[in-house]
Amino acid sequence: MGRTLNQESTDLNIFRDLKSMLACYQAFGIENFPVNLEAFKSQLPDRDLMLEELRKDIGECTRCKLSKQRTNIVFGEGSSSSKIMFIGEAPGREEDIQSRPFVGEAGVLLTRLIEKMGLKRSDVYIGNIVKCRPPENREPEDDEISTCISFIDRQIEIIRPEVIITLGRIALQSLMKNPALKITTVRGKFFDYKSIPVMPTFHPAYLLRNPGDKWKTWADAQKALEKIRPEVAK
Ligand code: URA
Repeated sequence: MGRTLNQESTDLNIFRDLKSMLACYQAFGIENFPVNLEAFKSQLPDRDLMLEELRKDIGECTRCKLSKQRTNIVFGEGSSSSKIMFIGEAPGREEDIQSRPFVGEAGVLLTRLIEKMGLKRSDVYIGNIVKCRPPENREPEDDEISTCISFIDRQIEIIRPEVIITLGRIALQSLMKNPALKITTVRGKFFDYKSIPVMPTFHPAYLLRNPGDKWKTWADAQKALEKIRPEVAK
């Protein structure tokens, strides 16, 4: 029988506790333990499997009214062991058709940003706050966000990135559970989500309309990059 998502999640917590414990031993000068690395690795929870289980949990979702007009659920994609996660708002027309996040015009810009950061799109994980396209690309409503938010919470818990970049106001406000946040005032400043640094920046669709602000998102991305690659810090 396969392990459940809850069991896997508990395992992740155990490994995190173990990491803290080892750091504590290290502080007392104990540097090495005789560990069978292969046996240890075989016990590690499989994040791809956990994401697959989560996708199965979502199923052919009808939990909110967005299910009525969507073509496909857009679960998210990328590396399950990525150190960096991008979170957008909701799928648009092209995403709804292809069942993949950020594959329309805004997605082309996001992919360019990722590559400018020295990464490949397949190196990172890309998800959205809501998994179904709102009609006419309107903003997702509060009830739709609150119905769907637990899924991105679980994706973050499974992937456990070292840094999250939120794209646009809705993604930031929803993740931080603070509807008062204004992207123009808080972008470029780190927030904290369950001890993971969150860098808010503009949504690529906004940047398509306001290309003069692209440099600001590039500056924000570099700050996020410093969290995973301290050597690029200037
Ligand atoms: N905009 C988003 O917020 N997410 C997508 O996947 C595509 C466009």
